[in-house]
Amino acid sequence: MRTSLNNAQEGAAAAVPLLALERLPDGAFAEVEAVIDGDAESLLLYRDGDHVRAWLNICPHAGRRLDWAPGQFLKSKDGLLVCAAHGASFELRGGECVAGPCRGEALRAVEVTVRDGAVWLA
Ligand code: FES
Repeated sequence: MRTSLNNAQEGAAAAVPLLALERLPDGAFAEVEAVIDGDAESLLLYRDGDHVRAWLNICPHAGRRLDWAPGQFLKSKDGLLVCAAHGASFELRGGECVAGPCRGEALRAVEVTVRDGAVWLA
């Protein structure tokens, strides 16, 4: 899934949810765009029950996007996120790379919160 927000101003980020929670099934990924520290960034969202975790959609290996097409992420049979570029595999609690070319590094987490049926920047 992919969504796009027109958060033209950083201040708007707090007023506009990243995504309605109902659009993110349990165990699924979504890609959203948001302004972080003044820069437009692509974020990866992952839902785990009532919780949603978010990371920058940037692989620590070579800085490529993790999705193979906007919003299309690979998940292994073991429940790992797999970078579409060179196959680095990330666990989905802390975003640590557990296999592949950047083993031991981690995705950069972005604080998000769930409230009022939506995901927001924290
Ligand atoms: S850029 Fe992700 S594994 Fe190389």
